[in-house]
Amino acid sequence: MYTHLQQRDSTRPPVNVATLAKMKSEGQKIACLTCYDASFAAVVDAAGVDIVLVGDSLGMVILGYDTTVPVTMNDVVYHSRAVARGLYRPFLVADMPFMSYSSREQALENAVRLMQEGGAKMVKLESGAGQVEIVEFLASHDIPVCAHLGLRPQSIHKQGGFRVQGREEAQAKRMLDDARALEAAGADVVLLECVPSALGREVTQALHVPVIGIGAGPDVDGQILVIYDILDITPGRKPRFVQNFMPGAGSPLEGCRRYVEAVKNRSYPQPEHCF
Ligand code: KIV
Repeated sequence: MYTHLQQRDSTRPPVNVATLAKMKSEGQKIACLTCYDASFAAVVDAAGVDIVLVGDSLGMVILGYDTTVPVTMNDVVYHSRAVARGLYRPFLVADMPFMSYSSREQALENAVRLMQEGGAKMVKLESGAGQVEIVEFLASHDIPVCAHLGLRPQSIHKQGGFRVQGREEAQAKRMLDDARALEAAGADVVLLECVPSALGREVTQALHVPVIGIGAGPDVDGQILVIYDILDITPGRKPRFVQNFMPGAGSPLEGCRRYVEAVKNRSYPQPEHCF
């Protein structure tokens, strides 16, 4: 009974939304990685990762699709459940796949699946002004939400490719306004993908909730990368923001530890990883 109270006294208490808010207020960087199975979950936990995301990137790195569009709810639930079994300390976030949150009721039903069946503690959805109402609805049901702005891979066919977002002033202003609106609607975390560093800094300074970046520069509250990218497993050309942490590391655990340390001591990202 009250295992949460007991865990609070442990030397490695599980991360929760309050931990993340405290890390932002104290200027401690938040280290995040994607993960898709129980074995790697145990590795990233041992490496000291704070947030683990079961991203719909699983469609590309696990299932071999070209985009994340074909990923289904069942895919994310299956992988999230596996990851949840391997984790103790990190905060588990699961992605809402393409078209799984096109109405408030559908979003609620699917978010409940990710939490009850998948063991997730927060759901992430690709967002803009159009998702404010959905985020508000989920938050009103006490579902923790991460709003994903910037490059939104589920909209790839509409956005016209994987490209940096928010380079033009009007687009940057819209993103900042959307981030503020999503925070006001109840988002607990904002994730920014592929935006200029100056915009990453501006959004981070404007919001009270933690901002996690991937290709969003050094001044966000935390960094996230795809685990197979940092372990040099992903074949072919990598996005500019990716760093391979395997050179000199003798094992995947050591590679993940080096990534966590680099995020915490701010040696990742370097200017060559930024836009
Ligand atoms: O699906 C995913 O892995 C993501 C990260 C790249 C942020 O959304």
